[in-house]
Amino acid sequence: MSTQEAPPRGSWPLAAQYVARWLDQRDRVDTLLEKMPSGLSPSDRARCQHLVYGVIRHYGRLESEISRLVVHPPRFATRAVLFVAGFELIEANNSAEEEGMVAKIVHHAVEQTKTLASPAESRLVNAVVRKLAPLLNKESPPKVAQANELADYYSHPEWMVKRWLVQYGAENTRKLLEWNQTPARACLRWRDASALPPDFLTATEWPGYFEIGAGRWSDVEPLLKAGQVYLQDPATRLAIELLDPQSGESVLDLCAAPGGKSLLIADTMTAKVPGGQIVALDLPSPRIDRLKENLAKITGVEVALVQADLLEGFSEVLKEHKLPTSYPAVLLDSPCSNTGVMRHRIDVKWRLQEGDFRKHPKQQLALLHAAARFVGPGGRLLYSTCSIDADENEKVIKAFFDSRAGGPFKLEKSVLSYPWATGHDGAGVFLLRRS
Ligand SMILES: C[S@@+](CC[C@H](N)C(=O)[O-])C[C@H]1O[C@@H](n2cnc3c(N)ncnc32)[C@H](O)[C@@H]1O
Repeated sequence: MSTQEAPPRGSWPLAAQYVARWLDQRDRVDTLLEKMPSGLSPSDRARCQHLVYGVIRHYGRLESEISRLVVHPPRFATRAVLFVAGFELIEANNSAEEEGMVAKIVHHAVEQTKTLASPAESRLVNAVVRKLAPLLNKESPPKVAQANELADYYSHPEWMVKRWLVQYGAENTRKLLEWNQTPARACLRWRDASALPPDFLTATEWPGYFEIGAGRWSDVEPLLKAGQVYLQDPATRLAIELLDPQSGESVLDLCAAPGGKSLLIADTMTAKVPGGQIVALDLPSPRIDRLKENLAKITGVEVALVQADLLEGFSEVLKEHKLPTSYPAVLLDSPCSNTGVMRHRIDVKWRLQEGDFRKHPKQQLALLHAAARFVGPGGRLLYSTCSIDADENEKVIKAFFDSRAGGPFKLEKSVLSYPWATGHDGAGVFLLRRS
């Protein structure tokens, strides 16, 4: 969508425009949806996001069925209509009045095409969406765990499914695929110790974490602004529970942006008595603005923000800022493949490449070596990822202990969260202690 073009009215045509943009340019979906018009009602906003997410989540299956029906791919505006209608058909599969629903979906897609593309193209849409309905309907989950069939049905790249079959086995791979294809529940952490959470927040089984009631987003926004809540999956707690930051300590939070874990560290440190210091580091980038905003919500702990590269001269930067170079607690929340959070980050599966599973571990090991230099005698080093891949978790830790730098450390504890088992995001967290 060009910036001059007026956004279309209504969630459906707007979703179709975002889908057209995604099909054409493969923008990151969160960046794309940040541009939603501010005047959009909360329900239109939610519906638009639901449709765009639905298309991207089911992209593989939709693409393969649509390309069977159209010989020459139509332009992106028309293809987007086919994809959005296709996702509606997948959703309708679970609906009791499915037959009536299909007719409605076809009619609506045809009408939308007249304004989003052209009356001539609406004839193509009519024919394709009608034929698409039984194709998307007839499929049920494959009985045998063949990588290609699982990949087609659950819309994931085949190489990724093969990787998971090797690491997790057939049953868990199927559970993971199902998990990723289910819309994520919206969770937040209640931060305000002086007030009780409002009724529209439903407690989860993880203390402090709540689910946001449907259609209550506008009620959450003021709480977010006031710093009373932070949008966060319960998996985040794993790293901080293991690090166990204490009041009065100096904590070095490496790879801190946008600051979700910095806030949790601060809230944990100040739970009983205020005091202590957090030094938060990240690379100079636009992410720093969000980190600054979040760090500003911390009270009861001194906070220093450092923009630098952990792999290049960070020690000198700390000295320049007159900050300690040795800490009792260091968190390294490393960049990773995000395979544990694919339910939220729905486009990750289409961006990842097999080579990323060689690239990430190299970077993670380099960061871990760099982080280890700032851990004081007897201090803790917490390595954390939101990946569930062994190459980015156990194998990085093993490579660290196989190197000389691992000598003074021992592994005290680790937790691997697999979404199908824990019911929240995936993560790998490892607590190392220096002698
Ligand atoms: C998983 S994110 C961190 C999330 C953050 N801890 C939170 O809870 O909100 C990884 C971060 O590592 C940062 N990063 C990557 N390489 C870095 C480096 N060499 N030095 C410092 N930060 C780095 C990225 O900019 C990114 O913000």
